[in-house]
Amino acid sequence: MLVAGNWKMNLGHADAVGRAADVVRATDGATGTVDVAVCPPAVWLDAVAERLRGSGVRLGAQNVHPEDAGAFTGEVSPPMLRDLGVHYAIVGHSERRQLFGETSAFVAEKVRAAQAAGLVPILCVGETLEERESGDAEATVLDQLASSLEGVGSADLVVAYEPVWAIGTGQTATPDQAQAMHAAIRGALAERFPGADIDILYGGSVKPGNAAELFAQPDLDGALVGGASLDAESFAAIVAAAKDAG
Ligand code: PGA
Repeated sequence: MLVAGNWKMNLGHADAVGRAADVVRATDGATGTVDVAVCPPAVWLDAVAERLRGSGVRLGAQNVHPEDAGAFTGEVSPPMLRDLGVHYAIVGHSERRQLFGETSAFVAEKVRAAQAAGLVPILCVGETLEERESGDAEATVLDQLASSLEGVGSADLVVAYEPVWAIGTGQTATPDQAQAMHAAIRGALAERFPGADIDILYGGSVKPGNAAELFAQPDLDGALVGGASLDAESFAAIVAAAKDAG
């Protein structure tokens, strides 16, 4: 099980460092059995890395550029993240796809570049409400998955299923909806990377109150948590639910 907190564009310097310390304290005792990570804004990665040092909590970035260096104003490269001790990099989050126009082809470049630098990509896929209501959810997600893995040769990655309609809305996929999509993703990954063991996280309004029933599903291997990860106690409760689910 892996539980990763995506802080998005939230928290100032002091709050980010304080939150990292709170997460280390609140998840102590679970990090041996559950992989725990926090993904702060890029400007606080260094300070948060310092605070996580010696703990079982890993560091993740919310985004990464596919090139190692060059004229890409405002971007951060995979080797730069590695230098900071970053372990995971979220790629293809629906906010990046929708608000910043990232295509699956570009996302696939990021997956390849992150892996080449020794980062573990957390590749996000998910359908919109319209796609779900028109009955196309599974085809959409599997298509997004395949095109976001174009040219990717290594199974060293994590996949996060995040239905767009469940992100930040308080509306969570039901355990059955999540399980059905995770099983479909699992099947597609087994064909793409035979024999590989790839964690599939669920994301979209995961909270302490719904984490246990989601984690009870056989194909859920953890969660990518947005809003609830900003509160160390809520995040720790989700981590505890993952631990209980084994
Ligand atoms: P949420 O965000 O938990 O606030 O819905 C999840 C995500 O965007 O990763």
